[in-house]
Amino acid sequence: MDQLRITGGRRLDGAVPISGAKNAGLPQIAASLLSPYPLELTNLPKVSDVDNMLRIIGQYQAQVTREGQAVRIDPSAVEPGDVDYETVRKMRASILVLAPLLGRFGHAKVSLPGGCAIGARPVDMHLRVLTALGANVMIEGGYIVATAKGGLSGARIVLPGPSVGATETALMAACCASGETEILNAAREPEVCDLAACLIAMGASIEGAGTHRLLVDGQRTWRPASHHGIPDRVEAGTYAAAAVITGGRIELVNARMEHLASVFQALEAMGATIWPGDRGVVVSGPATHPGGLRPTDITTEPYPGFPTDLQAQFMAMAALADGASLFRETIFENRFMHVPELTRLGADIALNGSVAMVRGRSRLKGAPVMATDLRASVCLVLAALAAEGETIINRVYHLDRGYEQLDRKLAQCGADIERISQ
Ligand code: EPZ
Repeated sequence: MDQLRITGGRRLDGAVPISGAKNAGLPQIAASLLSPYPLELTNLPKVSDVDNMLRIIGQYQAQVTREGQAVRIDPSAVEPGDVDYETVRKMRASILVLAPLLGRFGHAKVSLPGGCAIGARPVDMHLRVLTALGANVMIEGGYIVATAKGGLSGARIVLPGPSVGATETALMAACCASGETEILNAAREPEVCDLAACLIAMGASIEGAGTHRLLVDGQRTWRPASHHGIPDRVEAGTYAAAAVITGGRIELVNARMEHLASVFQALEAMGATIWPGDRGVVVSGPATHPGGLRPTDITTEPYPGFPTDLQAQFMAMAALADGASLFRETIFENRFMHVPELTRLGADIALNGSVAMVRGRSRLKGAPVMATDLRASVCLVLAALAAEGETIINRVYHLDRGYEQLDRKLAQCGADIERISQ
């Protein structure tokens, strides 16, 4: 397993090209199965989660060819098959193929995901959506077996909570349902909007993307399509945090200011300066740093609130702030896996259920640490960039799931970082 060796203390200064959003690309790859016509996705990041999802649809005989950042999917010869436990266990997002296969072929069999590092993450809302659209959903031997003999029928779906994945399942299934479907309490994340835009390019009829109420007309005519996905707001927020925690300055090339309003508000509260650049957004940390980082309280919420996927990264900054910051994680029940590792670097953090009290210290000291999940791993990278001395981060395969060439992008901004292949 590869490691990252980082020696902290350097102010980062440079420009980082923000890749396509992983969490937009994954549902769009699944959505390609809905139609018999080719779908070209022209902004997919080169990360292992995307490679895994492409491999999954390849198992269904979808023909996948990648030319640079563009991927061309030909789903004409797709045959539904089972998605096994090992595949889904490694990547929960595999559940997103359930709706397209059911909608197109009338049956689908996907393993239940099991838990993951950040919580139980059940799929009950996904199954409730399919049942509401007339599917028969059974659990057999750890598998979800969904059938819709006479096809899916449009319905009024009220999601119990704004779930990103369940909203995406509802959108894809509703595109195949006869008649109109209304989805209430829909998630408003940019990745959901981007999926709607991709589906519309493919021939779907969807209104209300970005609001809590979506309307889908199932009478659609699929067609060949090409879609350029949105940039990754979580990656952009991560590199913004790298600029702030090192007291440096990074231009986030292609980042979309409007996707990061709550994140930039929190960064400015901590002492960052942010302005539109020639090619994206420029983020600068406090010139006085080390020192000069202000504490701020963070509560994670559904979009447009503060994103849970940036909670760990902000905790790394809070660990060096001049004061105490209170973190409330409201989306997942176990998303503080980074805390014990941050503590090894000298952070002073007290946990109480879904609340973490972070008392800022004047410095962190490098040490060997262990990555546990995608966003916890990058939190440790950020802390290491500001810590005194050397940090070795183990199990960096977690990072490869969602960050394209992270070590290279940081090194190009002046970081002392090296990937050590074991
Ligand atoms: C998506 O996960 C993202 N993943 C996550 O990013 C992100 O953290 C999350 O949305 C919240 O924004 C992808 O898009 C591939 P949810 P998802 O359904 O869809 C509960 C990353 O690091 N829930 O909005 O799984 C669930 O347990 C990843 O890139 C149910 O109870 O998130 C969670 O507590 C991590 N039943 C809450 O809802 C369900 O059927 C929000 O989950 C579905 C979800």
